[in-house]
Amino acid sequence: MLLARLWPASPTLLVAAAAAVKVNPLPAPRNITWASSSGPKQLAGFVSLRVSEDTPDFILANGWNRAWDTIVSLQWVPAATEGPFPSFQPFPTAAAGVKRSSQALPTLQFVDVNISDVDADLQHGVDESYTLEVSESATSVVIEAPTVWGALHAFTTLQQLIISDGQGGLIIEKPVKIQDAPLYPYRGIMLDTGRNFISVNKIYEQLDGMSLSKLNVLHWHMEDTQSWPVQIDAYPEMIHDAYSSREVYSHADMRNIVAYARARGVRVIPEIDMPSHSASGWKQVDPQMVTCVDSWWSNDDYALHTAVEPPPGQMDIIYNGTYDVVREVYNELSSIFPDNWFHVGADEIQPNCFNFSSYVTQWFAEDPTRTYNDLAQYWVDHAVPIFQNYSSSRQLVMWEDIVLSTEHAHNVPTDIVMQTWNNGLDYINQLTAKGYDVIVSSSDFMYLDCGMGGFVTNDPRYDVMSNPDPNTPNFNYGGNGGSWCAPYKTWQRIYDYDFTQNLTDAQAQHIVGAVAPLWSEQVDDVTVSSQFWPRAAALAELVWSGNRDEHGQKRTTLMTQRILNFREYLVANGVQAKALVPKYCVQRPHTCDLYRNQSVIQ
Ligand SMILES: *[C@@H]1O[C@H](CO)[C@@H](O)[C@H](O)[C@H]1NC(C)=O
Ligand SMILES: *[C@@H]1O[C@H](CO)[C@@H](O)[C@H](O)[C@H]1NC(C)=O
Ligand SMILES: *[C@@H]1O[C@H](CO)[C@@H](O)[C@H](O)[C@H]1NC(C)=O
Ligand SMILES: *[C@@H]1O[C@H](CO)[C@@H](O)[C@H](O)[C@H]1NC(C)=O
Ligand SMILES: *[C@@H]1O[C@H](CO)[C@@H](O)[C@H](O)[C@H]1NC(C)=O
Ligand SMILES: *[C@@H]1O[C@H](CO)[C@@H](O)[C@H](O)[C@H]1NC(C)=O
Ligand SMILES: *[C@@H]1O[C@H](CO)[C@@H](O)[C@H](O)[C@H]1NC(C)=O
Repeated sequence: MLLARLWPASPTLLVAAAAAVKVNPLPAPRNITWASSSGPKQLAGFVSLRVSEDTPDFILANGWNRAWDTIVSLQWVPAATEGPFPSFQPFPTAAAGVKRSSQALPTLQFVDVNISDVDADLQHGVDESYTLEVSESATSVVIEAPTVWGALHAFTTLQQLIISDGQGGLIIEKPVKIQDAPLYPYRGIMLDTGRNFISVNKIYEQLDGMSLSKLNVLHWHMEDTQSWPVQIDAYPEMIHDAYSSREVYSHADMRNIVAYARARGVRVIPEIDMPSHSASGWKQVDPQMVTCVDSWWSNDDYALHTAVEPPPGQMDIIYNGTYDVVREVYNELSSIFPDNWFHVGADEIQPNCFNFSSYVTQWFAEDPTRTYNDLAQYWVDHAVPIFQNYSSSRQLVMWEDIVLSTEHAHNVPTDIVMQTWNNGLDYINQLTAKGYDVIVSSSDFMYLDCGMGGFVTNDPRYDVMSNPDPNTPNFNYGGNGGSWCAPYKTWQRIYDYDFTQNLTDAQAQHIVGAVAPLWSEQVDDVTVSSQFWPRAAALAELVWSGNRDEHGQKRTTLMTQRILNFREYLVANGVQAKALVPKYCVQRPHTCDLYRNQSVIQ
C-alpha cells in the first residue's frame, strides 16, 4: 500500500538531514537518549534481520520486511522537525552541499533481534516493551524485547529513525539508545461498520496507521440497527439486512482482518451491541426477538421516542427465544475472533421501545413494582452467563450505561470492563470507585465523529436566515448544528486530556487504556481515514508515553512537530490522513503557535 513517489524534498530539510537530525518518532519513546555524535551512520544497501527464533507465522521476518520495504521505497525526509526556538530566520534559497557522514565508520548491515519469549500470545497485557540501540561503531541495530509484539514496536520506531541522505542513500543518527514500553495495555480506535459499510481494504488502511502509531486494539462495532454486514453460518438470513450482497464480511474476511492485524501487533475486539441497538439481522432470524423495529423513532415528540437515532430496535429481554439466537451468534463469532476480550454493547436502553413488546408489558403488569432497572438486570442475569460460558479466559466489555445510566442494572459483575463515554472525568471517577476496570472513550475528548452537523433529514432548524436573538445561540448560529457532541475534537483536545486527574492511585490502576470511537453515520470508505487520522495518533502517544515531559510539564507544543511529520508519514504510507495546518507551519516550527510563550499549556 505504499505510494511509490514522494514530493521532492525541500532543500532546507535535506540540509537538516545531513546536519544530523535527531528524528523523533511518534509516539515519543518513553526514554530516548542521544549521545554526542560524529555524524549519522550510513546504511548498507540491504539491512538483514538476524533472529534466533521466529513465530510459526513469521511475525518478525514479515514485520522487518514490511519496515525495510517502507524505508527503501519512501526514502523518508522528515517533513517537520523540531527546530530551535524562535526560528524565524529567512528561508535558505539554495541547497547547500550535503556532506556525507564520516567515511571510516562501518555501515549498518543488520538488525539483531533477541526475544526472550517467542511464544507469548497477542492478548491483553502481553509485554510490549523493547530496547533499541545503535552504537557509534556497531554494524547492527540491537533490539531486545520480551516478545515479538515488542519487537514489532521497535521496527516501527526504527523505520521512522532511518531517513534519506538526499543522495540516494539512507542514514540513521547515532548513537541512540531507546527504552520503551506503553503506559497502558489497551490502546485503540473504534470502527463502526453498522451505520455505513467500510471495505476490508479500508480496514487494512486503518490497521496500517495503527501499527505505525503503536495502537494495539481495533474495537470493531460490527453492526447496528441500520445494517447487519456479518456472515453468520448458523443464520445465513442475517445478511439479508446488509446494504448489499457485496457489503458483507465473510468468515474469510474477518479471519483475514484478524491475521492482518495480528501481523502488526493489533488485537481485534468485536462488538455485537446488545440488547439495545438491535434490529437488523436479528429480525431476519426471529422477528419476536426484537421490538419496536417498525416504530417511529419520534424525536419530534420526544415523550414517545423509541430510539436516539433512526431506525429503532432493541432485543426483547423477556422473550425466551432471544437468548437462543444470541448464544448461537455470539459463539460463532467467538470462534472467529481469537481475542479473549469480547464487547457485548449494553448502551442506551430506551424504555419506550419496550411498550411495543407484549412480553415486556406483560412482565411489568405481573408485578407493578418492576422497573426498567429490573429489566436491565434481567438482561445481565440471563445474557452474561451465556457470554462468560464461551471460555474460562473470556473477558467481557460493556458500555458504562449498564452501570450509570437511568436504566442501569442493579448488579453488574465488577469483572466486566466498562467503556466510559459520558461526562468525562466524573464518570471515570465513579466507575473506578466502584471497582470496574475502565476503557476511556470520553465523548467530550475522544469521539472523532463530533462537530460534523446532524445527519437526520427534514430538519427545519437548518432553515434559518439570520439569528433572531443574538443573546441566545441559535441552532445554526453558535449552536451545535445538530452534533450532540460538538465541537469537533482536534488533536490538541485529545492529547491534552488528563483522564486520570483527581483519581486515587487505586482508581488510576483501574484504567486499562483508551479508545477513540468513530461512529459512522456520516463516514464511509471515502472519509474514514481522514476522520481517524492523524487525530488517532494524538491518542496513540497519550496512551503510549503520555502528554508530559520528565518534569511533569505538558509537552503539547513539542508534540506539534511530531504529529505534523507523522501526518505526512501516514499519507506517504497510504493512510489518507487529513491536513492539520498550512504546510508553512509544517516546515517552520512554532511560527503558527498561538502563544510565543512555550509554557502556557501546563
Ligand atoms: C533513560 O535512559 C538512560 C540511558 O539508558 C538512563 O541513564 C536514564 O536514567 C533513563 N531515564 C529515565 C527517565 O528512565
Ligand atoms: C538475549 O537476551 C537474554 C535476556 O533476555 C540474554 O541473556 C542473552 O544474552 C541475549 N542474547 C543475545 C544474543 O544478546
Ligand atoms: C410505556 O410503558 C410504560 C410502562 O407501562 C408506561 O409507564 C409509559 O407511559 C409508556 N410510555 C408511553 C410513551 O406510552
Ligand atoms: C421462558 O422459559 C421459562 C422456562 O424455561 C418459563 O418459565 C417462562 O415462562 C418462559 N417465559 C416466556 C416469556 O416465554
Ligand atoms: C455452558 O456450556 C455448557 C457446555 O457447553 C452447557 O451445557 C451450558 O448449558 C452452558 N450454559 C449457558 C448458561 O449457556
Ligand atoms: C480536581 O481537583 C481540583 C483540586 O481539588 C479541583 O480544583 C478540580 O475542579 C477537580 N477537577 C475535576 C474535574 O473534578
Ligand atoms: C509563560 O507562561 C507561564 C504560564 O502561564 C508563566 O508562568 C510564565 O511567567 C510565562 N513566561 C513569560 C516569559 O511570560
